[in-house]
Amino acid sequence: MRATDIIEKKRDGLELSTEEIRWFIEGFTKGEIPDYQAAAWLMAVFLRGMSKRETLDLTLAMAESGEQLDLSEAIEYAVDKHSTGGVGDKVTLVVAPLVAAAGVPVAKMSGRGLGFSGGTIDKLESIAGYRVALSEDEIIRQVREHGIVLCGQTRTLAPADGALYALRDVTGTVPSLPLIASSIMSKKLASGAKAIVLDVKVGAGAFMKTVEKARALAQIMVDIGVGAGRAMVALLSDMNQPLGCAVGNALEVREAIEALRGGGPADLREHCLTVAAHMVRLGRRDTRPDAFQRTRDELASLLDSGAALAKFRELVQAQGGDVRQVDEPKRLPQARYQEPLYAEENGYAAEVNALKVAQATLELGAGRARKTDTIDPAVGVVVHKKVGDRVAKGDPLFTVHANDAERLARARVILAEAVTVSAEPQAPLPAFYDTIMAASA
Ligand code: URA
Repeated sequence: MRATDIIEKKRDGLELSTEEIRWFIEGFTKGEIPDYQAAAWLMAVFLRGMSKRETLDLTLAMAESGEQLDLSEAIEYAVDKHSTGGVGDKVTLVVAPLVAAAGVPVAKMSGRGLGFSGGTIDKLESIAGYRVALSEDEIIRQVREHGIVLCGQTRTLAPADGALYALRDVTGTVPSLPLIASSIMSKKLASGAKAIVLDVKVGAGAFMKTVEKARALAQIMVDIGVGAGRAMVALLSDMNQPLGCAVGNALEVREAIEALRGGGPADLREHCLTVAAHMVRLGRRDTRPDAFQRTRDELASLLDSGAALAKFRELVQAQGGDVRQVDEPKRLPQARYQEPLYAEENGYAAEVNALKVAQATLELGAGRARKTDTIDPAVGVVVHKKVGDRVAKGDPLFTVHANDAERLARARVILAEAVTVSAEPQAPLPAFYDTIMAASA
């Protein structure tokens, strides 16, 4: 086979065979196909798309390009979740211990944040001493002993995806549905899960701005999972406004701990219960018609009883973190300045723009514009009004947590544009727009 033939075939809109896709991805991973040919091929895929079969083949080839985590010796039927990335999305911090507290083991590898969406690993690193880099043996041992692991992705996990993503990033080929779907799913398949719950975000603070686009992406990922023999559920969830109230690493850990104590913002609790109920239901292979509702109620009681929080504490201890910060979250990193921003008029919150809140948070230093940027765990924004809330002049809309006065001032300017107040009452935003379930799920 020749790389040029495969590039030309895709350029001309023809369907690639399983062997051609495998050969191309293997050659690229071994360094035998140079970046310029891979970049041309990516652009051809971007412009011509991929069939369902091609997308599955690409995903499997990328998943098999490195080591695959075999959880079967520790977990008989592993469940996982993935969020396409959102603002204030601390769901994994709540859901993983909650699911584990229900007796369904969770060994989850998460990524770091890039751009406006934060990564679970960065959030966990705001806990002093928490080790995110675990070897495969450590993952297996810990999940056997504690039923829970939350760590970073090993470097050998789907290396073809890492290298292709780096090329996509600099060749204008990131926003392609088959490329996004195969990128996400290759890592999920290589992480060893048998059942996967996808949380596909929609709206101003998400990759996908409309429900239609999010649905299309979700369906492709569900099809890949089913094609690879996994049980799949995809939730389409709102990301027009931040999830919960806290945006910023330590602030989000604090809010996750509140939720694990049975408190925290109502939208966050609801969101976590929904994701966790699907994971537990799938993990138990419970297909009874009332399985979701029953599981959800059981999980609510695990939040309220402190069982989920105890599991989170056990996780932090197992990974070397300072559990005093879990017991007393005020010990987590705190910013020097904590300044409210007040409403200037009466009415109802019509928009709390997640993207603008994220931009303000980035400005404060909570995220990375470039992969090499370091993040400040203490800084961020706490949102006090959600869409539909009544607003009175002088009410705090946000509290800005900053370590630098100039950055604080710049963040305030961005946040001033993040909220729209209307004289008319506004309906709250829905938590979810739709659920896509594969027949087997
Ligand atoms: N996240 C991924 O892992 N890959 C993409 O292509 C986009 C988002």
